[in-house]
Amino acid sequence: DKGGHKHYMAKEIAEQPTVLTNALGYYIKDGRIELPDPGLDFTQIDRLTMVACGTAFYACLTAKYWFEQIARLPVEIDVASEFRYREPPIAKGTAALFVSQSGETADTLAALRYCEGKADKIVSVVNVPESSIARESDLPLPILAGREIGVASTKAFTCQLTVLAILAVKAAQDRGELDADGVARALDAIKSVPAMMSQALALGEQSNAVSRKLAEARDILFLGRGPMYALAHEGALKLKEISYIHAEAYASGELKHGPIALVDEHVPVIVMAPRDALFDKTISNMQEVMARGGRVLLITDAQGAKEAGPGVWDTILMPEIDPFVAPILYAIPAQLLAYHTAVAKGTDVDQPRNLAKSVTVE
Ligand code: M6R
Repeated sequence: DKGGHKHYMAKEIAEQPTVLTNALGYYIKDGRIELPDPGLDFTQIDRLTMVACGTAFYACLTAKYWFEQIARLPVEIDVASEFRYREPPIAKGTAALFVSQSGETADTLAALRYCEGKADKIVSVVNVPESSIARESDLPLPILAGREIGVASTKAFTCQLTVLAILAVKAAQDRGELDADGVARALDAIKSVPAMMSQALALGEQSNAVSRKLAEARDILFLGRGPMYALAHEGALKLKEISYIHAEAYASGELKHGPIALVDEHVPVIVMAPRDALFDKTISNMQEVMARGGRVLLITDAQGAKEAGPGVWDTILMPEIDPFVAPILYAIPAQLLAYHTAVAKGTDVDQPRNLAKSVTVE
């Protein structure tokens, strides 16, 4: 049942405020973080190793910034297919964390099994509670996204981010990096996301309009800094999966180390720039692109658009949000751009060619 939507993907994008609210209710009770048994005490952990594939890996990449910045916890991340054969040493005091919507991805499961008996604790962030990855973890953390049918992962991604953000706050609290006020502020920011998402979804027509222009491009670049670099990857993956347009993500600061050579008036450059601590730097990279004739689609809030100045090709305006949780909110335009571009191109949105929902062979 597509609930009145043309595609499962559209339905699943629209469900995000509701499923996120469910996840928040499960993990935050009376203003306190509660993990299911046996819980996780971050005073016993010195480092975190996070492993996943595809979109779930980009959730890990985003969360690395959170764990390192707010909890000062060192984090290593890798894609599961590399991790499992790299056979990395796992130091004492390591928690290994696996993220998977299906809980059945072959490489992620093999990576988990590699960590058995080596990591102090095996944690998973999964959507399917009865899956192999959940069953083989010491602490399976459900994301409560409900069944996801579209091959392009949407609501699972933002629910993964939400659970990982809560876990990062828990780590910061346990490790004494955030006091009670700091924890309360961080949790308030996380709790503000569903309502902000509803606003961003209501502004979805902006993405629809610009997607008709993006549909004509052969290559598209996504730029961001910090956690927005992670989201740039997710935006590029979503776009290639369902619209078949070649898209790449770069850290804005890497632009002048090569990719800027690609820039001309035929390559749209999507700049993801909430007004965070790195905003000015991202905007200055954006101006370098424009100075070379690049067509920039800027995703920011109204004040950000004002500060960025004139000359951009197009803008998607977002509600103003606490920078900590901006990556969760900015997933919405990334998803909508991919969706509307694919619809404009007439591709099979829910069943893109060559892809399976669950990759159970390596
Ligand atoms: O079920 P999993 O989360 O382990 O799946 C991982 C990837 O196969 C998955 O995220 C894939 O990249 C999606 N099609 C992305 O939209």
